[in-house]
Amino acid sequence: MSVTLGIDIGTSGTKTLAIDERGTILASATAEYSCDHPRPGWSEQHPHLWWEATVETIGRVLAAGKLRPEEIAGIGLSGQMHGSVFLDEAGEVIRPALLWNDQRTAAECREIEEKAGGREALIRMVANPALTGFTAPKLLWLRRHEPAQWDRVRQVLLPKDYVRYRLTGTYATEVSDASGTLLLDVANRRWSGELLSKLQLDPALLPACYESPEVSGRVSEIAARATGLKPGTPVVGGGGDQPAGAVGNGIVRQGVVSATMGTSGVVFAQADELGFDPLGRLQRGCHAVPGAWHVMGVVLAAGGSFQWFRNELGKAESAMAKERGIDPYFLLTDEAATVGPGAEGLFFLPYLTGERTPHFDPEARGGWIGLTVRHGRAHMIRSVLEGATFAMRDSLELIREMGVQIEEVRASGGGARNPLWRQIQADIYGAGVQTLNSTEGPAFGVALLAQVGTGGFATVPEACDATIRVVDSTTVDSKVQADYDRAYVIYRKLYVDLRDSFQAIAGLVHRA
Ligand code: XUL
Repeated sequence: MSVTLGIDIGTSGTKTLAIDERGTILASATAEYSCDHPRPGWSEQHPHLWWEATVETIGRVLAAGKLRPEEIAGIGLSGQMHGSVFLDEAGEVIRPALLWNDQRTAAECREIEEKAGGREALIRMVANPALTGFTAPKLLWLRRHEPAQWDRVRQVLLPKDYVRYRLTGTYATEVSDASGTLLLDVANRRWSGELLSKLQLDPALLPACYESPEVSGRVSEIAARATGLKPGTPVVGGGGDQPAGAVGNGIVRQGVVSATMGTSGVVFAQADELGFDPLGRLQRGCHAVPGAWHVMGVVLAAGGSFQWFRNELGKAESAMAKERGIDPYFLLTDEAATVGPGAEGLFFLPYLTGERTPHFDPEARGGWIGLTVRHGRAHMIRSVLEGATFAMRDSLELIREMGVQIEEVRASGGGARNPLWRQIQADIYGAGVQTLNSTEGPAFGVALLAQVGTGGFATVPEACDATIRVVDSTTVDSKVQADYDRAYVIYRKLYVDLRDSFQAIAGLVHRA
């Protein structure tokens, strides 16, 4: 039996699981942590949380699966993308990492576009426009705002690559996550010397870059003592959580599309050619499948909006769920199911942390529009689910515009676990929603990449074909679909109508 571990360094927790070569999950463990928001729009986490959670979950998985360290053939790493870990000469963390949903870098994004010679020139170099969550603007932010810290920086790593460094002692990344730094020449799958030089950034700050299934390092003696793993265990490149999750969903051929509702929501498709869009409306990057690329649209607070509702307005349900040992989200969706599609004209805009696709607007704000005295909590919950799904449809429409026919969408993340939200997705997307035997997303995807990297399978598609099956399909209710189509037109217009007010509100808050 060839056992591999997949470790996913998420925003709300780290998940580790073990699989065999048939894709059977032998054990899985999650450790949660929190995220700091020191100012509106800022989002930080200390990398030591990720390492502690990794050590804890590896230990729990080895124990629960009764796995001996020598049975582990390889390890794959996945994680939240775009975060920046700043390390000094000694490999020590200089300050908390700035995360993917941090919005402080609007000025640095403008600076990058200027230095690159304009937006289109930038997209030609690195396949993407400068987006506030990406890594490169964070480097420029630190250089401008915390120069003493910046002077000490010798290495910049992505979140999962910091865990790789702690596991193996090597500085390395892989092409799928590196694509989200804005510093990768995505077409040629290597760092962009051209952009680094225009931004006056030393290439030595960046780690070696591998393909996702390639072995990038081996577990060190120190890490072996901390984790219980065997020294020398190979660690493959792995993938950013979205490309890795796509592998876990079998999105390894053109034409199959996934919709993942985690904290963020992502619509993802493989592209056999990189393609070029001068407007950069979808994120483009290297796929975790060697030789392939991907396009994706990212909604910053999809599941995150529902999580916010649970935390702030669902305290009673959370307490009740804890008492009964059940999931509080199910109590909330049961309530939402008591009202019909469209929530009687109540709309929720899910821009709680600004928005990425399609608006690229860090100042966008969330809110309910259309409230009347007839509306109650059930309408509010339902509208949150619908609003997050309308936002996902924006990305799906951009993929449709590329000429991709979307008949079925593979759903994963929290939004796929709930039958009501699956039906809402099918009816709003206008496409059947499939769920799979594997629901573990990125951790499963990188455990598969480790199978490929250690010889269990020849290619990533072969590994997916052998392990992933569709187990359930939710079909579109055409009457509801037509109602949602009409509501979607209004939803799209609300952002346009409110854009100037969002800017004005942000101005008030920044001055306060
Ligand atoms: C992808 C993105 C998020 C993070 C966090 O571009 O920003 O999905 O990877 O999960």
